[in-house]
Amino acid sequence: MPVPIIIDCDPGHDDALAIMLAAGDPAIDLLAITTVAGNQTVEKTTFNARRVCTVAGITGVPIAAGCARPLVQPLRVADDVHGDSGMDGPRFPDPTVGTVPGHAVDLMYRILTEHPEPVTLVPTAPLTNIALLLTRYPDAAAGIHEIVLMGGSTERGNKTPAAEFNIFIDPEAADIVFRSGVPVTMCGLNVTHQALATPDVLARLDGLGTELGGICAQLMTYFASAYKRLWGFEAPPLHDPVAVARVIDPAIVRCVDASVAVELHGQFTRGATVVDLHRYLDRPVNARVAVELDAGLFWDRVIGAVERLGARTT
Ligand code: RIB
Ligand code: CA
Repeated sequence: MPVPIIIDCDPGHDDALAIMLAAGDPAIDLLAITTVAGNQTVEKTTFNARRVCTVAGITGVPIAAGCARPLVQPLRVADDVHGDSGMDGPRFPDPTVGTVPGHAVDLMYRILTEHPEPVTLVPTAPLTNIALLLTRYPDAAAGIHEIVLMGGSTERGNKTPAAEFNIFIDPEAADIVFRSGVPVTMCGLNVTHQALATPDVLARLDGLGTELGGICAQLMTYFASAYKRLWGFEAPPLHDPVAVARVIDPAIVRCVDASVAVELHGQFTRGATVVDLHRYLDRPVNARVAVELDAGLFWDRVIGAVERLGARTT
């Protein structure tokens, strides 16, 4: 049976592929897409979610905009990585897919209380919407099967030496989520850096011979230029689809149980995920932490989803 999920995202080149993987893989029932400020302003991330759904032929999946800024600190976008639009590179057709009225958190709550079975939340952005959902609607947790998020790291960061972007942008929100008691799976940089969009991956996307395959290859080409310029990567890590892949087939993403704490006060470490893999601290296990990716299975599912969607729209 397909797993019912809501993606909460900030498109974002890698968020775009996460949406396509969720919509194009038969193991997932994508109930809604909610957006939040992160890679760009919420206006731009919402517009980009509409552009992705339009070009990928994803219809009938409600898109709702969420929080425009983190819970406490000001928003800092990632235009250095994703560009001024938040999804620079390809030329997209004007979006024909719209949004639904109302706030993302209210849409999530409605789905969680009305859907016949518990729903998996897949955040691939700062956790502002999720924290607000759990705070505004404490009974929402009963409708959540688990939260499988892209964020954090068992090692170093990519926004500061210690902090990964999604956690760093809204550490208070991440702290609320990791302390909520809702089952959390964390797909951090340590595992997403195993999802490298190599030239072979780009060739497979281009080789699909569809407009969508070409657009995805162009998204990866832009993303690759940013990762080369900023971090010297030979190929960009496709972070966000790893969280979706974990939901599709847990064998693709191996996890271990650990306690995870979000650092809120460190002068140099604010926003770090402190993952106690060796139980040094006497803290309860509160998360599954992804440690290993089956890259072959991962890319087969990502490219298979793009192929399926592209066949519908060509
Ligand atoms: O650190 C990577 C994460 O930050 C990804 O979700 C990317 O889209 C950005 O939001
Ligand atoms: Ca993202």
